[in-house]
Amino acid sequence: MPKLVINPRLENNIRLIDYRKYANAGLERQQELMRWYEGGDLLVLTNYRFDAGREVLSRVLFPNEKRAKKIMLHCEELDHGEPPRKAAWDVAAEFLPACNVSPEEFRTAVLAANQELITLVDALFPHYRYDKRLCIYNLSEMLSHNLHFDSPQHADAHTQMRAFVNLDDFPRIWNISRRLEDVSSEFYHKGHLEETIGEHPREFTRRLTHAAFGDRYDSGGHFQPKHAIAFQPGEVWFLNPNMLAHEVVYGRRLLDAVFLFDQACLLDPDRYFPQIVKRLHQQKLTPRGYWWRKALKSMRPGRSAKPKA
Ligand SMILES: [Fe+2]
Repeated sequence: MPKLVINPRLENNIRLIDYRKYANAGLERQQELMRWYEGGDLLVLTNYRFDAGREVLSRVLFPNEKRAKKIMLHCEELDHGEPPRKAAWDVAAEFLPACNVSPEEFRTAVLAANQELITLVDALFPHYRYDKRLCIYNLSEMLSHNLHFDSPQHADAHTQMRAFVNLDDFPRIWNISRRLEDVSSEFYHKGHLEETIGEHPREFTRRLTHAAFGDRYDSGGHFQPKHAIAFQPGEVWFLNPNMLAHEVVYGRRLLDAVFLFDQACLLDPDRYFPQIVKRLHQQKLTPRGYWWRKALKSMRPGRSAKPKA
């Protein structure tokens, strides 16, 4: 169970999901999970502990440098939707000697963890047909990454199932705050979000994050209500991080699943990220105002529809 400090002045969208009830469950429970996930809730799995590979992986600690922080480690034995990336395995091999873990031990642990993760996601969300199952290892120590919404490159082409596994033997500590819809409603004009119409939808969340929370180093600089969460060793949680503001307070050794699927698999097609962004623009500008700005942008690509104040 995660340790929680729930702020009574903030909507509580954390749901504790009993693995025994929801794994390989019937259609009704599958749809319940999809509805919560697509709605932007944080789902934390209870009565389940992720142990595959952890004995070895919790002894591996890579330096906190960019190329060592998010390593996509795929195994040819599994269906990742793409072959293993040799360059990623080479980066891991470079840092392993300092951890006193052999390449064979490491590879066996990663294979076990990836297999377990794929089985787990399929048991809980079998309706989504995944084109890619990206297993991303962040085996470094992370301290303080300010509140933000994720803004992934794939946001305009795929939707994503994101699962997070705390591989460490110490809790991973997050804060979460408000939903995308609430924050964008408050900061739409301050952030000049209309200027992102016609651009990649990630620009919407990038600009909104900056307007509402500041940059990644600005923790606490812009007051926002938060819940605090300590995810326990071996704990697994699910969240679409485009949809809920979140902050990493502290964490080591994370397995981050980015499983990509086509929007047609969504329970609610309106929950496709570009559609959500479009709707948020239309709520502020009216559908006609949105259409007009989009037309203007297409006539003047690369230029903002309105100068900054
Ligand atoms: Fe994030």
